[in-house]
Amino acid sequence: MASVLITGGAGYIGSHTIIEFLNNDLDIIIIDNFSNSKPEVINRIKDISGCKLKFYQIDLLDSSKLDGVFKENHIDAVIHFAGFKAVGESVSDSLKYYKNNIAGTLELLETMKKNDVKKIVFSSSATVYGTGNNIPFKENSSLKTTSPYGTTKLMIEQILTDLCISEPDWSVIILRYFNPIGAHESGLIGEDPTGLPNNLMPFLTQVAMGRLEGIKVFGNDYDTHDGTGIRDYIHVVDLAKGHLKALQKLSNNFGLSIYNLGVGKGYSVLDVIKTFENVVKINIKYKFVERRAGDVAVSIADVNKARDELGWEAKKTLLDMCADSWKWQKLNPNGYE
Ligand code: WQD
Repeated sequence: MASVLITGGAGYIGSHTIIEFLNNDLDIIIIDNFSNSKPEVINRIKDISGCKLKFYQIDLLDSSKLDGVFKENHIDAVIHFAGFKAVGESVSDSLKYYKNNIAGTLELLETMKKNDVKKIVFSSSATVYGTGNNIPFKENSSLKTTSPYGTTKLMIEQILTDLCISEPDWSVIILRYFNPIGAHESGLIGEDPTGLPNNLMPFLTQVAMGRLEGIKVFGNDYDTHDGTGIRDYIHVVDLAKGHLKALQKLSNNFGLSIYNLGVGKGYSVLDVIKTFENVVKINIKYKFVERRAGDVAVSIADVNKARDELGWEAKKTLLDMCADSWKWQKLNPNGYE
C-alpha cells in the first residue's frame, strides 16, 4: 500500500495518523474542507515530517472535485476521518450531522467505486456501544447510540457492512476509538477544538493555561470508585499507529473487520485531573455539577482482537498523555490561531 488518501487529514487524529504514515514512507494525499480544522496543520505536518504531500481543500459533497482527486492521483486505499463529531451539537442540529457525515461518506464510497479503489479504513467510535453491555466492550457487544453523532457512526458501519455483502471485492476495516488524548512529542500538532472544548483534556489544558476558570465535573454519583465517569483514554500517537497496522492488514484481506482501539484500562475524571495536576504542577479548580445528558458511567475497551489480529497494542501511559497534551498547549496557547 504505497499511496493513501486521507479524508479529514487536517484534523486531530488525521494529522497524527499522517505523521505515522509519512514515517513509514507512504505517499499521502489529504482532503479537508477546514470546517473543523485550520490550514496551519498542513504546514506543521510538513515541518515535522520534512515530507512533501498533496493537499486538496474540498468538501466530500463536491462530487466532481472529489472525482478529480482520484483522477489526478494513484490511490491504493482511503482512511476516512472526515465528519462532524460534537455530540452535543449533533443533538441540536441533527440534519447537519446526517447530511455531512452520511451523504459525505456515500459520495466518497461511490467515487472510490467509480475509480476502482476498494480499500477503506473507517474512523468509528466507542459511542456506538449500548449502555447495557458488560465492561470491557467487545467488538460483538450490543450497539445502541444516544446521539445523532453516534447514530451517524453506526449508520456508516451498517453501510460498509452491506457494501461488503453486495460487493465482496471490498476490503474494509472499522476502527472504534475510545478516548483519544495527548499530542505528538514535538508539541507542533495537537487537539485544537473550535470554541469551548467539549472534551475533558482540552478543557483541562485551557484551565491550566488560565484561559478557562475551572472544570465542571459532570456528575459524581456514578457507580464508580470515586463517583465520576470512567473512560479508556488512549494516546493519539498509539491510535495513529493502530491505523498503520489496519492499513497493512487491509492490503491482503477482503471483507470487513472491526477493532476497538483503546488501552483496555479505565480512569475516572478525578484520576485524570489528579494525574494532570501532578504533571503540570498546577492546581486545577473543579466543581461537581449534574451529569451530562448522554454520558455513560463506564467505557473501557476489550483490546484482545486488535492485539491478536492487528499485532497492535497501545504503549503510552496516562502520564505520557497528560504531559504531551500540556506541551502542545504551552507551545500553542491559542491553538493553531
Ligand atoms: C470524558 C469524561 C465526561 C468534560 C466523546 C465522544 C466520543 C469521542 C470522544 C468523538 C466523561 C467528563 C468531560 C468536562 C467532565 N468524540 N467530562 N467535564 O464523552 O467520553 O467521548 O468524546 O469522536 O465519540 O462520545 O469524552 O472527553 O467529553 O468526556 O466531567 O468538561 O470526562 O462526563 O466522563 P466522551 P469527554
